[in-house]
Amino acid sequence: MNQMKLRDFERLAKLVYDQSGIRLEVQKLELLQARLRKRLKALSMDSFKEYYTFVTEDLTGMEMVKMLDCVTTNKTEFFREHQHFEHLIKNAIPALQKNHKGDGEPLRFWSAACSTGEEVYSLAMTALEVTQGRPRVKILGTDLSTKVLAKAMTGQYEAEKIEGVPEAWLSRYFKTAGEPGKKVYRVGHQLKEVVRFSRLNLNGEVYPFQSRFDVIFCRNVMIYFDLAVQQKLVDRLSACLKPGGYLYTGHSESLLRVKHNLKGVASSVYVKA
Ligand SMILES: C[S@@+](CC[C@H](N)C(=O)[O-])C[C@H]1O[C@@H](n2cnc3c(N)ncnc32)[C@H](O)[C@@H]1O
Repeated sequence: MNQMKLRDFERLAKLVYDQSGIRLEVQKLELLQARLRKRLKALSMDSFKEYYTFVTEDLTGMEMVKMLDCVTTNKTEFFREHQHFEHLIKNAIPALQKNHKGDGEPLRFWSAACSTGEEVYSLAMTALEVTQGRPRVKILGTDLSTKVLAKAMTGQYEAEKIEGVPEAWLSRYFKTAGEPGKKVYRVGHQLKEVVRFSRLNLNGEVYPFQSRFDVIFCRNVMIYFDLAVQQKLVDRLSACLKPGGYLYTGHSESLLRVKHNLKGVASSVYVKA
């Protein structure tokens, strides 16, 4: 079996950091080794040294995308950290509706590291329930990993994945398919119409947005970044928010160590003045 030498780990970990902002400490050597062995196997390569040369010299950039797909950790669930959705229902969406100019512009939400889509569809259900279409809502889900985005776009989830979805919302927003005992749930057209997915590296050069957002969920991704990357990210997220817009971070990701001009209004919820 191919062993990852410390030197290979250091070079690959630096590459991952430079590309994505994800910091891999040396304790993660075995994890990185296990995850990248799949790439070595697919490419019939014998060593991580050879793989490093290949990924850095591949001018198409495709192997870099595949490497980052392997490196990311994608755990998520519907209505994860449900207090945030309660905050949206009771506070954020009513305030955004009240301040809305009634000019036909939709409320714009962004799930900035959306993994397999559960967060995006949870946001869509919540927004549709509260607004009843007044104003319209548009929800963008982005992630670094193309693999999770492909799953998110199918909008199809196994029965055990949808456990967090309230019964009434499940029957309103999902269709069932599959055989008995192997039921799958597919998001219906109301959700599909308001969501969109696209690849975006939060550590990349540009955020290609033409308009700013009313709500940004950037949860459970900052934990993989060091303070310098977190600071740059929070500055950019802040710039992407409309005045009066809300930023939600993961419960274990308070912005205590980061400089910012946002006002904390609830646990890991911030508003732009
Ligand atoms: C643990 S999941 C969190 C999913 C969801 N936000 C939640 O809280 O349930 C972290 C996600 O961040 C993504 N990610 C990691 N680094 C990223 C980067 N530089 N740009 C965009 N997404 C990134 C991973 O691919 C992964 O899907």
